[in-house]
Amino acid sequence: MTAGRRPPNVIRRLLTVAVHGGSLLPLALLLFDGATGQLSVNPIQDLTLRTGKAALVLLLLSLACTPLHILLGWKWAVALRKPLGLYSFLYICLHLLIFTAVDYGLDAGLIGQAIAEKRYVLAGLASFLLLLPLALTSTRGAVRRLGRWWRRLHWLVYPAALLAALHFLWLSKTAREPLLYGAILIALLAVRALRSARAPARIASRPARPPAERS
Ligand code: HEM
Repeated sequence: MTAGRRPPNVIRRLLTVAVHGGSLLPLALLLFDGATGQLSVNPIQDLTLRTGKAALVLLLLSLACTPLHILLGWKWAVALRKPLGLYSFLYICLHLLIFTAVDYGLDAGLIGQAIAEKRYVLAGLASFLLLLPLALTSTRGAVRRLGRWWRRLHWLVYPAALLAALHFLWLSKTAREPLLYGAILIALLAVRALRSARAPARIASRPARPPAERS
């Protein structure tokens, strides 16, 4: 496959199936384990941890799509960004639902206390609140209506992902895995930031087209 070119149709279909199938697999396994009584001795914690991990991994995969395009010319990867981001948000919603409804029985007082006392809950909530407008504006109509503001708004995904990594770090007993996620995230952000910083220079250095060529 040549860099920058669209992959053949059959590969595009396989990629799409892999993205949808791979994203739904953690949910299918969770439902299967739940239905067959194979969750751990603490099933609520099991559900919370597994939905949280799926959400973070999918969020990072969606953030890797544009750097893959920038670094390797894989233009097709950009089309996978939205489904991966939306699947991540689906797991975040399930994660939140398990925490608020199953674990805390929708007790507003207890939930408020957890937010006030546990810094990892506050970080998770802040991450969710930053991702919410992005999920709500993911429709074509919203993209059209918001114009260039849509792109600006979508930079919120980086602080949201950083807060999610911090959430993971603060609740973990060992820092290794959360720090690995944080390092991947910073590397992805660096690629985007360097590209954005160089963009005005690239445009300025382009030779001016003669008036006849301009549309
Ligand atoms: C209001 C929002 C959130 C709340 C209340 C919340 C709550 C929790 C709780 C209670 C745990 C399990 C702690 C334990 O039993 O040790 C957890 C784990 C986790 N959460 Fe969240 N969370 C929130 C948002 C998020 C978001 C937005 C993400 C990612 C995008 C996320 C990713 C994770 C991860 C990766 C884990 C640890 C998984 C593991 O250790 O394997 N959470 N969260």
